[in-house]
Amino acid sequence: SNSIKMNRPKVLITRPDVPAGGLNLLKEQCDVILWEKPEPISRSALLSKIQNVDGVYCLLTDKIDEEVLNAAGPQLKVVASMSVGVDHLDLQALKKRNIKVGYTPGILTDATAELAVALLLSTSRRLIEANRAIYKGEWKAWSPTWMCGPGLSGSTVGIVGLGRIGTQVAKCLKGFNTAKILYTSRSIKQAAIQFGGEKVELETLLERSDFIIVTTALTPDTRQMFNKNTFQKMKKSAIFINVSRGDVVDQPALIEALKNGIIRAAGLDVMTPEPIPLDNELLKLDNCVILPHIGSAAIETREEMSIITAKNIMAVLKGVPAEMPSPLQL
Ligand code: DGY
Repeated sequence: SNSIKMNRPKVLITRPDVPAGGLNLLKEQCDVILWEKPEPISRSALLSKIQNVDGVYCLLTDKIDEEVLNAAGPQLKVVASMSVGVDHLDLQALKKRNIKVGYTPGILTDATAELAVALLLSTSRRLIEANRAIYKGEWKAWSPTWMCGPGLSGSTVGIVGLGRIGTQVAKCLKGFNTAKILYTSRSIKQAAIQFGGEKVELETLLERSDFIIVTTALTPDTRQMFNKNTFQKMKKSAIFINVSRGDVVDQPALIEALKNGIIRAAGLDVMTPEPIPLDNELLKLDNCVILPHIGSAAIETREEMSIITAKNIMAVLKGVPAEMPSPLQL
């Protein structure tokens, strides 16, 4: 009836193709406003559609800042992002308004670590380049030296920002008989005992690692932490893997490093901007493997991410924020 309908909270979902689990959960209990186009919601559409909603289900392509929160109005109680990264959210502005924030840590750890390992192996063992070579008619015969790249066995791996994802990457790579795993982190991590990880300063990690894997969050401290200076400190044979955010890298400096043999190769699941323009130099380099930000793109993972996002929203809208499955502590 009308009176029941009037009490249903309003929730904006910023993309039509969010996985069914979360979408259905919200549709059962809320009036859902769904952005109808497959591409990210435009700024102007976000500013108008967010008016008067109680909750927002957003993605990492949606910047939620002061202007957006002002446009929403004071009834907005919860913003839940279907991501573990929250660099697109102005956390101070959310906190100031006492808006609860949800995200999806943990659930995507295995999928993202798996992709990081796949990307590392694709880069070191030159899988994409080798595959392309077949189609270009370049495979003449088995060759003792053709398409060689460094193996993981006996190598030193450096993990920059040892959190949930970095820890899982390290555990996987230990299975390839690496000699040593180094990591950077604000504190010594108990989990590192499982793979004999050693906490070191960034500079030491850069100098000693054969493979450098970035799994840190993007924050003011990590923005552009990989730049001309840090690439210079790496081994000439180093392989650089980024599954965090493009903005942890000064990308022109990375391109120079790849072109000039400052490092051997890079594997990137994230870059600046996304999507990357087709004329970008990174796409012209054989020693760069580039993927379209698919770290968490395991079918079950994305389904679970959508359910957690919906539950984060519902807990707040039902008045029990303590029951959010994944609240971000502001
Ligand atoms: C995240 O969750 O932050 C990833 O970048 C996409 O899943």
